[in-house]
Amino acid sequence: MEEALPAPARAGAVPPPPTSGPVALTEVDMEGHQPMATGLAELDRVLSGGLLPGSATLLGGEPGTGKSTLLLQALASLAASGRRCLLVAAEEASHQVRRRAHRLGADVPGVFVVEATDLATIVEGVARLQPEVVVVDSVQAISDPDVAGGAGSVAQVRECAQSLARMAKASGAALVLVGHVTKEGSLAGPRTLEHLVDTVLSFEGDRYLALRALRAVKHRFGPTGETGLFEMGERGLAGVADPSALFLGDRREGSAGSTVTVPVEGYRPLVVEVQALVGRSSQVPRRFVTGLDPGRVGFLVAVLDRRAGVALGDCDVYVSVTGGARACEPAADLAICLALASSLVGAPVRSGLVAIGEVGLGGELRRVGSMPKRLAEAGRLGFKSALVPAPAAAGAARDVEVVAARSLREALGAAFPAGWPLAERQRAPRSGPAARRPSGDGGRTLREIG
Ligand code: TYD
Ligand code: MG
Repeated sequence: MEEALPAPARAGAVPPPPTSGPVALTEVDMEGHQPMATGLAELDRVLSGGLLPGSATLLGGEPGTGKSTLLLQALASLAASGRRCLLVAAEEASHQVRRRAHRLGADVPGVFVVEATDLATIVEGVARLQPEVVVVDSVQAISDPDVAGGAGSVAQVRECAQSLARMAKASGAALVLVGHVTKEGSLAGPRTLEHLVDTVLSFEGDRYLALRALRAVKHRFGPTGETGLFEMGERGLAGVADPSALFLGDRREGSAGSTVTVPVEGYRPLVVEVQALVGRSSQVPRRFVTGLDPGRVGFLVAVLDRRAGVALGDCDVYVSVTGGARACEPAADLAICLALASSLVGAPVRSGLVAIGEVGLGGELRRVGSMPKRLAEAGRLGFKSALVPAPAAAGAARDVEVVAARSLREALGAAFPAGWPLAERQRAPRSGPAARRPSGDGGRTLREIG
């Protein structure tokens, strides 16, 4: 028998909600479910505030990036603010965890540890302690005897993660699973894990460099664009408050092959140095790229050759972003091109200059987003002028003189104090239309127009 539906409500008169079942969204309680700030500013930034009670988060990264360190520090900080925390040590013995915590100053009361690899022990530990935050390090090291396969197998990882996420939801604890990622970037264990959790964080960094970047790959409770930056030191991870200053720390003004650009990481503009080294190749020309998109660099080498007469085709080309930073967005194009040209001719670009802009196939400069933010950051770090695509973002930054260019050729002319080309220093292009092009700007060949 069907029950009679309540009479349709008149405007403004919402019928009282039933005790269970559908609830008006506006009546749902959020106050009891605020994110718990971990107290690590860079982590909280990426989590848009902190860990949400009842949620499941996966922290992925290659071995040695600092996942265990980061989470231990987070637990200590949460415990210091009165939260009861449980660390499930599935890979390390408790005394090893204690030793590390001691070194980090993270052995505070309020952080509990259980050495366990089987699911039942973990579930029991959570039921007994009733923690607000549970970290399982790592999901690949635990198993459920009811599931086929050993720890780390696809089925085990998936089933264990699912059971733990369900447990977190029921108990209201925030769950964080550590997941090791292989060199190829896939979670050892299935990518399907990403669907089982609310948030997927990726911790990246070269183990030989101090810098680490934390990014949200998936986040149900906030935007995914933010990046947290950390530096690994003797006492664990420290948030990097002023990354631009860090990236420019060792820069020598006035060296050939060096330019500065301002990529946006997440929502944060960063000022970084691009360095290029161009050398004549004896064999097949090689390209070495660090911190940039290698395909993009190849593209720019071709555009420089065909559209601006900067012939790099038979050269070995090395390009990198210094300090372990990345600049994988097209806004770095112009700086890469200028660094390559500068290295080729052995002359530095204007001092105090940043270059921001995308370069198109036709050698034209294309505008990029967030220009005011980028210029403001450059100004804050003392840069005096910015070379950008026309039309310029006028009045965007008080202390930065904005120089607009329409094409790569125009930009080269504006970037070098002696103009472009530096006739006596630039290597003569080998052949083809570029070689016959008159010097100076503005001369477009028919080929370029067509
Ligand atoms: P770890 O957190 O164990 O990485 P993961 O859990 O991702 O495998 O730490 C990785 C590296 O960081 C380790 O090889 C040593 C280094 N490290 C420091 O430099 N300083 C420190 O204070 C700690 C705890 C680790
Ligand atoms: Mg670890």
